[in-house]
Amino acid sequence: MDKLKSGSSAMEGHGAYNRHAKLPAGGGELATPFLERAAWRVEFDTSDRPVVVADYGSSQGKNSLAPMRAAISVLRERLGRDRPIVVYHEDRPTNDFNSLFEVLHADPGRYAKGDNRVYPCAIGRSFYENVLPPGSVDLGWCSYAAMWISKIPTLIPEHFYVQRSPPGVRAVFERQAVEDWRSFLSVRSLEMRRGARIVVAMPGADDNGESAFAPLMDDAKEVLAEMERERAISAEERERMVLGAWARRKRDLTEPFAGVDAFQSLIVEECETEALPDAAWVEFERDGDRRALAAKHAAFFRAVFAPSLAAALTRVSSGEAGAFEAFADRLQRGLRERRAANPAPIHSLVQVAVFAKTG
Ligand SMILES: C[S@@+](CC[C@H](N)C(=O)[O-])C[C@H]1O[C@@H](n2cnc3c(N)ncnc32)[C@H](O)[C@@H]1O
Repeated sequence: MDKLKSGSSAMEGHGAYNRHAKLPAGGGELATPFLERAAWRVEFDTSDRPVVVADYGSSQGKNSLAPMRAAISVLRERLGRDRPIVVYHEDRPTNDFNSLFEVLHADPGRYAKGDNRVYPCAIGRSFYENVLPPGSVDLGWCSYAAMWISKIPTLIPEHFYVQRSPPGVRAVFERQAVEDWRSFLSVRSLEMRRGARIVVAMPGADDNGESAFAPLMDDAKEVLAEMERERAISAEERERMVLGAWARRKRDLTEPFAGVDAFQSLIVEECETEALPDAAWVEFERDGDRRALAAKHAAFFRAVFAPSLAAALTRVSSGEAGAFEAFADRLQRGLRERRAANPAPIHSLVQVAVFAKTG
C-alpha cells in the first residue's frame, strides 16, 4: 500500500457525522452572521435568473441547514418570494450523500420547507477543482472543511497529527496548506459572479500555530498505542495513519492578499478569529457528569477522524466487512475512558473570512 495514500478526510457514514458534529455546528453558528451580512452585500443584476448558493464541504448536511435558512431568508427579503434559488451541496464523491438527501428531504429544519422555489442539489467532487460553471455562484459557504488539505505530503513520525510533529514535517504540511488555500480561492473565484461573496469558516490555530484539538489527538494516539500492543492494529498501519488537516492562523487566510489589490479578483471583506467555547464542557460544568462529557468527545472524534485513521488499515482498505466498526469501536471506547479519567475542555478558535469578487 502506498503509505501516503492513507489519508481520506471522509466523515463516518450512515448519518454518524450528523449525529455527533455539534462542535462544528457551533463554529458554523458563530459564522452565520457573517453569511447573513454577505447575503445582504451580494450584487445582483436586473435579470430574474435563478440565484445560486454553493455549500462547499457539506458532509451529511445537518450543519448546513441553519446557515442556509439564514442566507435564504436574507435573499428572500431582498429578491422576493418568487425568485428561484438553487442550493448546491458539494463534497467529495466518498461522502455519505444518502444521509444528505435524507436531511434535505425530511429534517424538520430543512430550509426548503414552505418554500417551493428553493431547489437543493448535490455535487460529488473535490473543492480543489472547479465544481460549478464559471461566473455562476452568487453566495458561497464553506464551514469546517477547508482545513482538510488536498493530499498528505508526508508521514508523521510518532503521531498522526501534524501539530505534534517535528518542525521539518510541519514545514512540509504548511507548504501544502499554503498551496491548497491559494488553489481553493482561485477555483472559487472562477465560479463566482462579479459582486458575489463567499464565507469560509474553519477551526483555526492561534498566532503560534497551536490548536486546541492537540490534547484530544494525544489521547487518541495513546489509545492507538494500546491497540498496537493488543495487536488490534500493526505497527506499520499505525505508522501510515496521518490526518490531512491543517489548522490555519488568521494571517494565513489573508496571506495571498498581502501587498496586492486583489488575489484572483477576490478581496477580503472580513476576517476574524472567534472563540468557540466547548458546549459539552459547559454542560459538564452544570451537571458534573464526566462520563457524558467523555462520551461526547469520543463520539465526535470517531465521526470526524476515525475514517481517516482507518484508511491506513489493510482490512478496511480491502473492504473487509465490519473492519471499520471494530477499529472505531475500540478507539472510541479507549478515548472515552481516557477522557472520563481526565476531563478537559476543547475550547477552540474559529477563523471566519468573507471574500468578495470584484470586477
Ligand atoms: C468536518 S466536515 C464539515 C461539514 C459541514 N460543512 C459542517 O460545517 O459541519 C468536513 C467535510 O469536508 C469535506 N472535504 C474535505 N476535503 C474536501 C475536498 N477536497 N473537497 C470537498 N469536500 C471536502 C469532507 O468530506 C467532510 O464532509
